[in-house]
Amino acid sequence: MITPNMHYDDLKDSYLFYNIAQKTKAYLEANPGKYLYRMGIGDVSLPLCEAVIAALHEAVDDQSKKNTFHGYMPECGAPFLREAIAKYYAEKGVSLSSDEVFVSSGASDELGDILDLFERSSSALVIEPAYPAYVDANVMAGRNIIHLASGKENQFLPEPDDHLKADILYICSPNNPTGAVFSKTQLQKWVDYANQNGSIILFDAAYEAFIEEESLPHSIFEIEGARTCAIEICSLSKTAGFTGTRLGYTVIPKELVRNGMNLNAMWVRNRTTKTNGVSYIIQKGGAAVFTPEGQKQVKQNIQIYKNNAKMLMEALDQLGIWYCGGKNAPYIWMKCPGGMGSWEFFDYLLNEIQVVGTPGEGFGACGEGYFRFSTFGSPEDTKEAARCLVQLFKKQ
Ligand code: MLT
Repeated sequence: MITPNMHYDDLKDSYLFYNIAQKTKAYLEANPGKYLYRMGIGDVSLPLCEAVIAALHEAVDDQSKKNTFHGYMPECGAPFLREAIAKYYAEKGVSLSSDEVFVSSGASDELGDILDLFERSSSALVIEPAYPAYVDANVMAGRNIIHLASGKENQFLPEPDDHLKADILYICSPNNPTGAVFSKTQLQKWVDYANQNGSIILFDAAYEAFIEEESLPHSIFEIEGARTCAIEICSLSKTAGFTGTRLGYTVIPKELVRNGMNLNAMWVRNRTTKTNGVSYIIQKGGAAVFTPEGQKQVKQNIQIYKNNAKMLMEALDQLGIWYCGGKNAPYIWMKCPGGMGSWEFFDYLLNEIQVVGTPGEGFGACGEGYFRFSTFGSPEDTKEAARCLVQLFKKQ
């Protein structure tokens, strides 16, 4: 009899966002007709911008004509999109060649797939609270996981120290769920650590477009030495509303070599075997994001989410509740009031004011007692949720 991957037995019963979806579904079944203010999973509520929609329509038409039709796409991405992304980095002062950019079907898919590059005996360091897929993907592979807890005392931005021994280092900045952003000086310490120890940083830059403060880095490749120790994984999900459209990109510098193996070349080998590329239509839509018109329009949408963040932050300020994030990231990370536990607070908000958020404990043990709001909902829902929050806690 075949033995399945027994590491699945080490996973939590179900995935965080699936758990939340089940709980809200059960609530609606028990309370038919109730309206929920959904600020749990970071799923966007605004439609794709006009520039993207126009490019998608054009690409669909291309597929209807013999001379513009596309079959299989290049496995690592269409040259037009790889070049557009390299140019986007150049505008941030980061020089890349287009064959260091790999187009993917999204950052969450890629964060799991990229682990193919590493031995299962390698260890993975996860700075917690963290996006739970980092842990789950490594549990499935049977890797040893080092959970590095962070907290209010270090603004959720821990530094490496000499006792730390890890091969794969997950860094998400701006951070999901805390919204904390590493400064260049702080990231330099992680880059130096990785270069000294032969580790590889997996830098999740999914929220870079939300950074407001000019001094903060958008890419790990703004840091000296990163080209010899880092892979950057990014997505158009939050930048341009592609959660349902699916498109991302990964940067692997050609200098990234371990044990004589070139990781860029390894990823080319992986992709050419394991994918037939992202669809032509979606890549055309993605390329439109990087045009001047596309950039202007996606920034307008991001501003709407930032206004949502302001409404929630004002409500928490009014109530004197501690929080961070919301400024350079689309998440607000708050302390549960009255010493409540994360899931207790989840149930309380759901039952009292029909607001759905994400319990901090779902992002790791050190997230217990915290709660995350996503700012990707509609302005109307966010305004009402903020009003209900104030009303609920003012009474206490
Ligand atoms: C989140 O809510 O943490 C993210 O939206 C989940 C994801 O990007 O897959």
